Amino acid sequence: MLRSALLNVMIKAVHKAARALKRDFGEVEHLQVSLKGPANFVTAADRRAEEILYEELSRARPGYGFLGEEGGRRTGTDATHTWIVDPLDGTMNFLHGIPHFAISLALEREGTIAAGIVYNPATDDLFTAEKGKGSFLNDHRIRVAARSRLADAVIACGLPHPSRGDAAVERKDTGAVQDRVAGLRRFGAAALDLAWVAAGRLDGYWERNLSPWDVAAGVALVREAGGYATDLAGGEAPFVTGSIVAGNEAIHRELMRALKDSAKAA
Ligand code: IPD
Ligand code: CA
Ligand code: CA
Repeated sequence: MLRSALLNVMIKAVHKAARALKRDFGEVEHLQVSLKGPANFVTAADRRAEEILYEELSRARPGYGFLGEEGGRRTGTDATHTWIVDPLDGTMNFLHGIPHFAISLALEREGTIAAGIVYNPATDDLFTAEKGKGSFLNDHRIRVAARSRLADAVIACGLPHPSRGDAAVERKDTGAVQDRVAGLRRFGAAALDLAWVAAGRLDGYWERNLSPWDVAAGVALVREAGGYATDLAGGEAPFVTGSIVAGNEAIHRELMRALKDSAKAA
């Protein structure tokens, strides 16, 4: 499959960071039985992966800015391009030895996402999208699912820690959606939730209180797969505002309606 120079740069960096993460994931299993648990080890793994991504990407594209979950913003000389990076999305899964986690990497160009990658090193699922060129899982083109009724849909959500967000509102959201769908899921990695919507594995997904690095790449994947991804108010830049609703046109609309109804009832 012929890929653009940009995607090749991104994939090379992600694969290098993924090799380190995969090695560390192997160690995590052994650490489950230690009294201290693997928390510090995982924090170090997370930072290591981000540094690999920073080094690789800066070498290939000197001057681009870099916004990473671990290291924050590093301004570059080129103000029009910024990498948006979550070196380990699904930390809780990783920490518990659950092979559902990912590296999320997006390139923001003048306020829009030019390309996005979500890669799960444990399954070797590589999701890629470039603006105007479609979404792919490894070598295959992917599309959002065609189901149009919420009653037939499997929808993923986030279940926030009580210390984050407004737990009461989120419980209402979950209840309202649960009443209308075929199945509700909580997988624990926002970037993969979006990638799975793009691949049609999930019909839809919503979550509040996310950060740009959780969703930037996934939003590109969903849109290039023919889907809709907005914030809860319908805004087009969910990587800025922090909430997300995604699905095909009908499921996106129905999910938005369910969440609005739940807010009215609040
Ligand atoms: C988290 C995951 C999770 C979502 C959280 C995120 P992290 O990212 O994406 O699914 O519910 O809100 O913070 O901490 O594993 O990078
Ligand atoms: Ca994350
Ligand atoms: Ca993270």
